Amino acid sequence: MPIQRTKPEDTVSDDERAWWKESVVYQVYPRSFNDSDGDGVGDLRGLADRLDYIASLGVDVIWLNPVYDSPQEDNGYDISDYRAIYEEFGTMADWERLLEEVHDRDMRLIMDLVVNHTSRDHEWFVESRQGNPEYEDYYIWREGDGEDPPNNWESFFGGSAWEYDEEREAYYLHLYDTSQPDLDWANEDVRQDVFDTIEWWLEKGIDGFRMDVINLLSKADGLPDGDPDSEWVGSEHFIDGPEMTAYLEAMDEQVLSNYDIMTVGEMPQLTVDEASTYVSADGPLDMAFHFQHTKLDYDGDERWAVGDWDLTELKEIVGRWQTGLEGEGWNALYWENHDQPRVVSRYGDPVNYRRESAKLLGTFMLTLRGTPYIYQGQELGMTNAPWESMDDLRDVDAINHAEELLESEDHEGYDDVRDVVAYRSRDNARTPMQWDDSEHAGFTDADPWIQVNPNHDEVNVEAAEADEDSVLNYYRDLVDLRERKDTLVYGEYDDLLPDHESVYAYTRTMTEDGETEQVLVVLNFFGDRPTVDLPVQYDEATLLLSNYDRSDDAPESVTLAPYEARIYQLD
Ligand code: NOJ
Repeated sequence: MPIQRTKPEDTVSDDERAWWKESVVYQVYPRSFNDSDGDGVGDLRGLADRLDYIASLGVDVIWLNPVYDSPQEDNGYDISDYRAIYEEFGTMADWERLLEEVHDRDMRLIMDLVVNHTSRDHEWFVESRQGNPEYEDYYIWREGDGEDPPNNWESFFGGSAWEYDEEREAYYLHLYDTSQPDLDWANEDVRQDVFDTIEWWLEKGIDGFRMDVINLLSKADGLPDGDPDSEWVGSEHFIDGPEMTAYLEAMDEQVLSNYDIMTVGEMPQLTVDEASTYVSADGPLDMAFHFQHTKLDYDGDERWAVGDWDLTELKEIVGRWQTGLEGEGWNALYWENHDQPRVVSRYGDPVNYRRESAKLLGTFMLTLRGTPYIYQGQELGMTNAPWESMDDLRDVDAINHAEELLESEDHEGYDDVRDVVAYRSRDNARTPMQWDDSEHAGFTDADPWIQVNPNHDEVNVEAAEADEDSVLNYYRDLVDLRERKDTLVYGEYDDLLPDHESVYAYTRTMTEDGETEQVLVVLNFFGDRPTVDLPVQYDEATLLLSNYDRSDDAPESVTLAPYEARIYQLD
């Protein structure tokens, strides 16, 4: 059946256009990107040395994971001073030079904003636990004797969300590590201090923020017990809480709206309906990261178990987000970040079709409606690493959960839980960037803080630069295509085969000045060779890009090779 695509609403008005919608973002995890001073830890100068590489990808914005002063219990998501740079990463002068050099290359820089919690070493917490009246209510404290936590809420990293503090003789709430106490956003002074901090960074000339777990700020009155069977116990009382929109609207009104910036909120358990309240045209934020597509390979709700994933479920989720955001809400598109295992190892085939599946997954991400975020190394098709012993792990989340699994089930040792821990650990995203095939992958001259993936002898930037057909060069083509085709940015999304179990095919359509442009994307997500008939209508089909060597053919019926991706223009 032909599809009709010339509705007036396909047109994009000037008001709807925005630089951040037309951007591609590259995420840098500084600890693992490039070490300039030989201490085994990446740093700001190391990053500055590689800016030409990042610019060569054609991306527009860099998102930098936290570089603030921190004891690094959770690699910088535990901030002890919002206005200082962590010493091992460099100095404020290094950071200022970095910003300048990013801007000199016509790119922008966005910073991580982590304000649901601070580090236990933050001055506010130090004062708060001593009962200093100015700060005593900066965190969420509850009376108790150390035997019985105030409620049954759990930490995302495992165990109770409450820690008893001997000094104050009370419990404090920490939805993440015990070293990360939650700020009390109900306290107006906390909000004002955070808004001042945001303004301080914006005045330094940054171009926006990625906001860490930002829909967790508002906790339900009375902190009631949560459903003990839910995925994250207590979450119905602290996710999208009662004051959430009010807090963000105040942040927007007082600070954000005074600057030409982009904002993207990381929002656990976000649904499309909820998202519309945050990211519609007049919502406080520009975009949100949701997690629905990152849970397909859980076993049911269980993160620390691996299940089979289903392409039709991915289509349902993506379709919902592509078409369901109301009021011009805008999507953030991602597969990977510093918390997710490598996508080729999850939804591709890292052994038989690493190159093809990495390109296929990239094609998908860069041809959807929204702003794509490429995570460092994704453009090389980096894979999960082997985590042969517990000693190799660095991630507090993976270590806590490995220990929990070992305690709670009938396991004798790490080998019994290794498969799931090695698959799921956030460390997979944090192995050093693979620059070349030398001992430490060109990341450092010293012993790196975390193991280098042994496949760096094959998968690395130097090799990829020399290979016309590499994943890296394919990503460059994808970014370039997207930058040239507004239809890939703004066009309407239509799924052509919602029920097909291995092929994903969709069109992106946009009408401008009376002319309709349609792009067709056909993706074989698995290792077989399916033939599909597609309901498309066109006079001429031009193949714009493929991860196989193909020439133009008629896309109404195609036979696809393993993990094949094709992008056509239909006229
Ligand atoms: C989400 C961040 O992405 C993750 O790395 C961190 O551990 C938690 N928030 C807590 O800040």
